[in-house]
Amino acid sequence: MSTPRTTSKEFDVLIIGSGAAGLTLALNLSKTSKVAVLSKSELKEGSTWYAQGGIAAVLDDKDSIESHVSDTLKAGAGLCVKETVEYTVRNSKAAIEWLLNLGVDFTRTAESGDLHLTREGGHSHRRVIHSADATGKAIQTTLSAQARAAKGVTIFEHHIAVDLIKQPEPGNSKYRCVGAYVYNRITDTVEAFAAKTVVLATGGASKVYLYTSNPDGASGDGIAMAWRAGCRVGNMEFNQFHPTCLYHPKAKTFLITEALRGEGAILRLPDGTPFMERFHPLKELAPRDIVARAIDHEMKRLGSDCVYLDISHKPEDFIRSHFPTVYNTCLDFGIDITKEAIPVVPAAHYTCGGVVVNHNGETDLRNLYAVGETTFTGLHGANRMASNSLLECIVYAKSAAQNIEKRLDSISMPVLQPWDESRVTDSDEDVVISHNWDELRRFMWDYVGIVRTQKRLERATHRIKLLQREINDYYSHHIVGNDLIELRNLAMVAELIIRSATQRKESRGLHYSLDYPETSDVAQNTILVPMNYAAQDIVVHIAND
Ligand code: FAD
Ligand code: SIN
Repeated sequence: MSTPRTTSKEFDVLIIGSGAAGLTLALNLSKTSKVAVLSKSELKEGSTWYAQGGIAAVLDDKDSIESHVSDTLKAGAGLCVKETVEYTVRNSKAAIEWLLNLGVDFTRTAESGDLHLTREGGHSHRRVIHSADATGKAIQTTLSAQARAAKGVTIFEHHIAVDLIKQPEPGNSKYRCVGAYVYNRITDTVEAFAAKTVVLATGGASKVYLYTSNPDGASGDGIAMAWRAGCRVGNMEFNQFHPTCLYHPKAKTFLITEALRGEGAILRLPDGTPFMERFHPLKELAPRDIVARAIDHEMKRLGSDCVYLDISHKPEDFIRSHFPTVYNTCLDFGIDITKEAIPVVPAAHYTCGGVVVNHNGETDLRNLYAVGETTFTGLHGANRMASNSLLECIVYAKSAAQNIEKRLDSISMPVLQPWDESRVTDSDEDVVISHNWDELRRFMWDYVGIVRTQKRLERATHRIKLLQREINDYYSHHIVGNDLIELRNLAMVAELIIRSATQRKESRGLHYSLDYPETSDVAQNTILVPMNYAAQDIVVHIAND
């Protein structure tokens, strides 16, 4: 073993991820702490940038906290943690004010100049604050500019965290998180980043599915790293499929925002017949799981490749001013949404489960925090309500920052071992990575998708065991690179999803099983506990734990 040495990179807080969650946290700490922010590729490249619909908050006089809470609980199908929902919704107004103060340019009404509120599925009021149909871009642009200008923040783009580093705490045998090994994609080397606290803000894991609305980096790295480090993960079976992504051979992953349906767009079969009234009284504005399943059902029944979303009955000016991104992108693909319906299909969109955290964003491992889509806070239950996730990012990043700030003085700077590459060689057959990558995402789509059966889950269990053996063997013999790091994490997350889905012997929210179509009277979260379960002394409490 090599001699311990001080690493060149030492920070009070190492934030892994630069989306809404990571940058909100960084900005909240930038005046008092030395902060590093890692980003897998460019700073902006995460799901946040692509968010369209908006961010939910109670701002209208006719709306109320109780109503937002009640809608969220309803969408969550009995599994939301009520205190978490109340906590998040109570802080929604402050979150919007914070973003406005930073300079985020939200859409206002022409008449009063007040913030324009739109509507999405599950919301019984207009309460979605937005920036036309490119809300994420507006938020990410402002946060990125502020973070680049902040004195206390150092940004490392094209740096991908490989694994967390743990050490026994000074004076006792409990483990604490002390940093991460980080692969620098430009220099092709792995460096150790030492930090008093580490925060996972790595986003979701929807890339585990063949078809997804998410950008390439959504490979569940934070969830996989936390699990390997001994943290519990919760509710991984609840993968949200967005009902309407553009169906076009050349459109890789383009979302058609739910706000179109909020403003009156109708879902139609290929022959033009509307069909949502057969599935739910709220029709197009039913919770997302119901709309996605209805589309899946109709596509399978008719053997059609897609269904259609039609807003062409609305005035052209309205469509073009409210939905410029959707209008222009569809036009690039030869579809004029002011005149014709849009071909759409469901695609994996959001990871409702994740690393178990408390209201401060603390995980089971001391000095390791997690915020944003990578977490399980209890807010989303079995089905996330639209536009609640950006809100969760801002609210939890703020409370994590407050907690970290209070604790930093009492934590000593760790000394780390360098990354050891003495027993690995250059990757010899990259085809192993690309083959397994494709196979994994395809069987997850086919066997662990919108509608599940025990048999399909058994097949998936069998496949994932074989793949993991091969991937782990490859990983332990070869020098790491971006694709290998992501594949290893995707396989880990796939295993957690399959295990959680197999455990749930009922249908609830986003988990629908043909073998167990009923919803059980007792609502239980699925909490997986790792063999190396990290810590018992931090209160990371789940209501029905
Ligand atoms: P992200 O924004 O995904 O950022 C993740 C960050 O982690 C990135 O910077 C990435 O580079 C980094 N990262 C990941 N792994 C590593 C690693 N190993 N090392 C270093 N860095 C790493 N939600 C809403 O509330 N309203 C909406 O209107 C909405 N629309 C959406 C539309 C689309 C198309 C998509 C995909 C999602 C949408 N969502 C929406 C969901 C929402 O955008 C996300 O849940 C939210 O932005 C997640 O933010 P985050 O900060 O947790 O992660
Ligand atoms: C959308 O605009 O349809 C996405 C909203 C969300 O995922 O919250």
